[in-house]
Amino acid sequence: MSSLIPVTQEEFCYLLSLLSLSLSLSLSLGVLGFELRTLCLLGRCSTTSALPPALLSILFFYVDTCFQRWTPTFMRRNPFGVDICCRKGSRSPLQELYNPIQLELSNTAVLHQMRRDQVTDTCRANSATSRKRRVLTPNDLKHLVVDEDHELIYCYVPKVACTNWKRLMMVLTGRGKYSDPMEIPANEAHVSTNLKTLNQYSIPEINHRLKSYMKFLFVREPFERLVSAYRNKFTQKYNTSFHKRYGTKIIKRQRKNATQEALRKGDDVKFEEFVAYLIDPHTQREEPFNEHWQTVYSLCHPCHIRYDLVGKYETLEEDSNYVLQLAGVSSYLKFPTYAKSTRTTDEMTTEFFQNISSEHQTQLYEVYKLDFLMFNYSVPSYLKLE
Ligand SMILES: *[C@@H]1O[C@H](CO)[C@@H](O)[C@H](O)[C@H]1NC(C)=O
Ligand SMILES: *[C@@H]1O[C@H](CO)[C@@H](O)[C@H](O)[C@H]1NC(C)=O
Ligand SMILES: *[C@@H]1O[C@H](CO)[C@@H](O)[C@H](O)[C@H]1NC(C)=O
Ligand SMILES: *[C@@H]1O[C@H](CO)[C@@H](O)[C@H](O)[C@H]1NC(C)=O
Repeated sequence: MSSLIPVTQEEFCYLLSLLSLSLSLSLSLGVLGFELRTLCLLGRCSTTSALPPALLSILFFYVDTCFQRWTPTFMRRNPFGVDICCRKGSRSPLQELYNPIQLELSNTAVLHQMRRDQVTDTCRANSATSRKRRVLTPNDLKHLVVDEDHELIYCYVPKVACTNWKRLMMVLTGRGKYSDPMEIPANEAHVSTNLKTLNQYSIPEINHRLKSYMKFLFVREPFERLVSAYRNKFTQKYNTSFHKRYGTKIIKRQRKNATQEALRKGDDVKFEEFVAYLIDPHTQREEPFNEHWQTVYSLCHPCHIRYDLVGKYETLEEDSNYVLQLAGVSSYLKFPTYAKSTRTTDEMTTEFFQNISSEHQTQLYEVYKLDFLMFNYSVPSYLKLE
């Protein structure tokens, strides 16, 4: 029965308010009895009808003071369940984010409020396309990684530092198994069973976590992310699974005089062909985009799930360490810094887009438009839109 022992401020306050309630109830009943007697002695029993409302307001006073302030967060935490065990007395990341104690955080808090507003406004302004679907199913939540111990939900977006963030999530959920994120090999970070995702829970459990955990994601300039995906999956000789799975299909569909060898290997897809494949309406009708070039909008559902924090690749370390700070782990966990020599840059992206016709550029922009607007990326200066 150890889980019944109140451990956090909220739970303590909850018990306190219960105590006050019963105290006030018995006091009020006593007063009521006394007044009734006095009034009846004076022969004015009828005015006692005014007392029940008075009694009710005393009750509501207690309900208001403690209950309303504390129970909303507490009730969601399932008082008699197992959730209580791990955050003894500390503030949740959501409390840290929305009610920061330290004042120096307030500039950062304002910045993140602006980013949240930008997402909300874009969703509203584009509601015809952004909310085509009314509800999500558990299957839509496969990219939302859950950390129960620190009450975090991270939606991973490939090509936006997702390997390092998965490593961090493994350290956070590992209960001491790992201490240094970089000791985890990259391929192990991508083993799906190493992290728990939100679709693995029951519907009530999903709703509870969406409400009370801090939800965050990391985004990147959409075309830079796209070029990064192209370079990583199609220009590197070693990864044959993407060549076989997508390369052969792209060449077959987009290259007029493809050689037998190219059709078989699928290992020399040109960026122009990749773009033609992306804007071809058939592509998404057949199957959803691969996650490496799927829009953030479709991977993380920001118009249905209200993210508390939008991190950006452009300010990766800063934003990542802010998340770790809110989670209360920044004293022993930092975002790993790494060599960025092969990273796709804006100049590189400009070069890749030089060979794309303005017609295709316009169509491609349409595919990724919501990601541009929602995360406040301006139309790239190299783009020649029609
Ligand atoms: C969007 O970006 C512009 C500059 O590119 C900046 O001035 C503005 O504050 C940003 N807005 C939000 C909501 O981040
Ligand atoms: C190649 O791509 C597959 C499919 O995503 C992935 O599982 C594998 O780890 C990749 N191999 C390398 C060497 O990156
Ligand atoms: C395809 O190859 C044939 C023979 O080499 C050539 O005559 C034709 O012009 C080529 N077509 C295109 C679209 O390149
Ligand atoms: C652009 O096209 C030219 C000529 O076809 C080619 O040599 C060059 O490699 C292309 N650049 C990129 C970045 O694909």
